[in-house]
Amino acid sequence: MPALSSSHSERLKSEQNFHDKQAARVKVTPGEGGWIDCETPTWPNEPKISPRMTHRLLHLLGDFTGKRVLIYGCGFDPGATWFARRGAHVTAIDISPESVADQRILMEAYNVQMSLRVADAMHTPFPDGSFDLIYGNAILHHLDSDGCAREIARLLAPGGVAVFREVQAGNVFLRLFRRLTPFWRTPDEHPLVEKDYGIYRRHFRRVDVTAHVFASMLYLFAHRMWAMSLRLMRIDRWPAESRTLLRACDHVDYFLARIPGMSSQMWFSLIEMRR
Ligand SMILES: C[S@@+](CC[C@H](N)C(=O)[O-])C[C@H]1O[C@@H](n2cnc3c(N)ncnc32)[C@H](O)[C@@H]1O
Repeated sequence: MPALSSSHSERLKSEQNFHDKQAARVKVTPGEGGWIDCETPTWPNEPKISPRMTHRLLHLLGDFTGKRVLIYGCGFDPGATWFARRGAHVTAIDISPESVADQRILMEAYNVQMSLRVADAMHTPFPDGSFDLIYGNAILHHLDSDGCAREIARLLAPGGVAVFREVQAGNVFLRLFRRLTPFWRTPDEHPLVEKDYGIYRRHFRRVDVTAHVFASMLYLFAHRMWAMSLRLMRIDRWPAESRTLLRACDHVDYFLARIPGMSSQMWFSLIEMRR
């Protein structure tokens, strides 16, 4: 493993501290009534924001039964357990020991086998070509694009595929929102922009990117403002989100994404990389 530069070590330490604290705040309580639901057939999370995005993600993941799957930056998300329950040979890594401990709780509660490691995603301990599928949710934007592209390309077996759901820098609302809430993020985060996709394209034979969630984001923003207004009026009620409106927004987003220049304005991207 190459020696780490001091700035890289500091970055790792800051990511680890932040996410350890976050993981310690959230108590993983598997099973009915817990915040996490490994049973759901339509994981990944937030399927209601964009059923189209979820549908496409499941399509990209394909049939992974019996495959060697690496969950990249697993956090305490139930994704790793979800894959293992569906027959994948799962290895999950994260820089945060607390998050990995949470994964162990889920693994034992659901009686599945996984290899869990505290590891830096940019310098993993695995041999070349160790995985058929690498999956990550909201992890690439915590990493240096060139460093992790190199590592993902090294880890993928010939014919393997890497699939990521990422946050994009997006539009003026998202940028403003991030400016107003810096404490929710680590200092090194950099929501993806076109330049990052260009870096990934240098390391892979094929990189496909689709963008998702614009109108739905405006709806959610309006919804949260309404919920906050109710609170200010001392009305103790959290208004339900309208599934019908969210579904309508999802259809609108499908067409918006086809307008030149609009993709970069959207909140999320799905990235498929092939060696
Ligand atoms: C936004 S969280 C996403 C976690 C999880 N994938 C999810 O969907 O909830 C980002 C995760 O990346 C991890 N992380 C950040 N830098 C990392 C690195 N260099 N190597 C491995 N994990 C890292 C953090 O500890 C954190 O768990």
